[in-house]
Amino acid sequence: MDLSITVNGIKFPNPFLLGSGPPGTNARVLAKSYDAGWGGAVAKTVSLESSKVVNVVPRYGKLRSRENNEVIGFENIELISDRPIEVWLEEFRQVKKDYPNNILIASIMEEYSKERWQELTRLVQDTGVDAFELNFSCPHGMTERKMGSEMGEHPDLCQEVTSWVTEVAKIPVWAKMTPNITNIKEPSLAAVRGGAAGISAINTILSVIGVNLDTLRPMPTVEGHTVPGGYSAQAVKPIALRMVSQLGLGLPKGTTVSGIGGIENSHDAIEFMLLGASTVQICTGVMLQGVKMVDELQEGLAKFMTDKGFNSVGEIVGKSLPYFSTHMELVKMMKEAKRHKAGEAARDNEWAQKDITEKTAELTSD
Ligand SMILES: Cc1cc2nc3c(=O)[nH]c(=O)nc-3n(C[C@H](O)[C@H](O)[C@H](O)COP(=O)(O)O)c2cc1C
Repeated sequence: MDLSITVNGIKFPNPFLLGSGPPGTNARVLAKSYDAGWGGAVAKTVSLESSKVVNVVPRYGKLRSRENNEVIGFENIELISDRPIEVWLEEFRQVKKDYPNNILIASIMEEYSKERWQELTRLVQDTGVDAFELNFSCPHGMTERKMGSEMGEHPDLCQEVTSWVTEVAKIPVWAKMTPNITNIKEPSLAAVRGGAAGISAINTILSVIGVNLDTLRPMPTVEGHTVPGGYSAQAVKPIALRMVSQLGLGLPKGTTVSGIGGIENSHDAIEFMLLGASTVQICTGVMLQGVKMVDELQEGLAKFMTDKGFNSVGEIVGKSLPYFSTHMELVKMMKEAKRHKAGEAARDNEWAQKDITEKTAELTSD
């Protein structure tokens, strides 16, 4: 089945992209993912001076299910790429030469300097990459140099920096947003005013994964200490879905959304598409399952389209957005459906009379 979709004029063989991070950290792994069937990849974020980027070990932490040890949340304090820009430029060129039909998106980040952003844009653009993703969202480490989410938290900076890039970019520009903000629409709309054709959401959520009760040290622990890091994997999916739906409903027509956050299988990916994402990105899922997970993504999407009678991937995008409403409207609709008795019977007074777990189950939509 044809799973292709055209987004901002770029034809993606399928909507599944590696999210920026370890899965796209050099040309070898990018090639492996295209061979496995990924439609595209956002490479690990690059900057002009890799010598300023020094990572720590350990830099990951896992939250496991209390029941079966499954990883449900993942924290990282990893920085952007520590590989020299000259090496990256050569690799971008090589990857595009070897895989002309797979989409390669360069994630870029710089300090607050027009000259630096425009130099990086020009250098990377000359390699033939298909699009840019501006990293306005890394929540740790880079913020100490006023980069990443330090920019993404300020709509005026998002607009200004995006406009610097779009002034020299001849290819589409996406801005990747931080969820560590009250209303994701504000910096996103600012980036669109700066010329962004698309918004990628979300990057990781600031977190502390846990505290070791033997040593009393918060984790991940580096020489006895830590910093808050970025939370990803299935635990963040509901927050990401909410933010993607806000963008799906609130961005100007024609602005595209790339959905990210806790996607681990085709079911998750389709949810993001139904809420307005025309492509989806996966980072932690690939780190935990490997690139082969794309087989299930493709099979699951094709089956969903057959079962539901969708003729193209584009038809799915935003299909569930009309079903968002206001709380007042929900009450009105329930009254019209003559189900308001159920609401009346479930008033807060009742909670004392029944076991709280039973009452919770009664009010839950599975
Ligand atoms: C170890 C690790 C490194 C990451 N590095 C980057 C990065 O360099 N640039 C970037 O834009 N996002 C980076 N991210 C964020 C992911 O691309 C993604 O936005 C986030 O993890 C949520 O998606 P997921 O649940 O599929 O991982 C990183 C995530 C992880 C877990």
